[in-house]
Amino acid sequence: MKDSGKVGGRSGAKKGSSGRSYRGKAGLTRQPKKMRGRKVSSQRWLTRQLNDPFVAEAKTRGFRSRAALKLEQIDDRYKLFQPGMAIVDLGCAPGGWMQVASMRTKLGQGLARLVGIDLLETEVILDAEIFVGDIMDSAMMECVRDAVGGTADGVLSDMAAATTGHRPTDHLRTMALLEVALDFAFEILKRDGFFLAKCFRGGAERDVLNIMKHNFKSVRHVKPAASRKDSIESYVLATGFHGKGLGNGVVNMANS
Ligand SMILES: C[S@@+](CC[C@H](N)C(=O)[O-])C[C@H]1O[C@@H](n2cnc3c(N)ncnc32)[C@H](O)[C@@H]1O
Repeated sequence: MKDSGKVGGRSGAKKGSSGRSYRGKAGLTRQPKKMRGRKVSSQRWLTRQLNDPFVAEAKTRGFRSRAALKLEQIDDRYKLFQPGMAIVDLGCAPGGWMQVASMRTKLGQGLARLVGIDLLETEVILDAEIFVGDIMDSAMMECVRDAVGGTADGVLSDMAAATTGHRPTDHLRTMALLEVALDFAFEILKRDGFFLAKCFRGGAERDVLNIMKHNFKSVRHVKPAASRKDSIESYVLATGFHGKGLGNGVVNMANS
């Protein structure tokens, strides 16, 4: 993994992906108005949101989440999406990634398909199919597979397990989601398909990375500029799928 994986990074004043400068007036930090009665952690979160240039940019541009900018930055660098592609988004709520995937595959204008699933409700995305359910539920995932037409060009996963505050536990739970997402990707990816998934700092476990390296041409960690520097979040991007399962269904991770 020689690639530094820094995506959309820039020097000097902080900018959003549209290139505007967000350096605050004399570097002052804005404070939310209603702080009384809130927990310190909630005050800290609110202050950070208010001063986050990517939150401002996502809002201005009509994205449902600042996460949308992360996917945009990754795609600007690695050119994952093409018009007409079939894409599955695991853990899609509130729908920021779906918005980006929809625009970049030109959903509704041709053959493109976009299917999402989340434990939570996601507001409608025109021409996309969205399921409310758990990716651990195999019957539900069969519906997802059918909805995308059996095969996909890309599988996205921005899922993270609800945090417990105990880092090793959070890491393991998010890794479990990543493994299930990867297993699903092995089942449905077309040749040369891609897989992009959230993982935590320290990256994916070596075993999972090795399995990915056996089944994709390239595997790298990426950290888009919109992913907070102080966050343990990072992404693993695998491109050029050539897995053993091609043409005949599942690639068993245990045998890869
Ligand atoms: C960071 S959010 C995704 C944000 C999204 N990419 C966007 O741009 O709007 C992670 C999502 O993963 C979902 N999630 C976590 N575990 C899940 C599971 N087992 N099955 C389905 N969704 C799950 C959560 O409900 C949450 O909405």
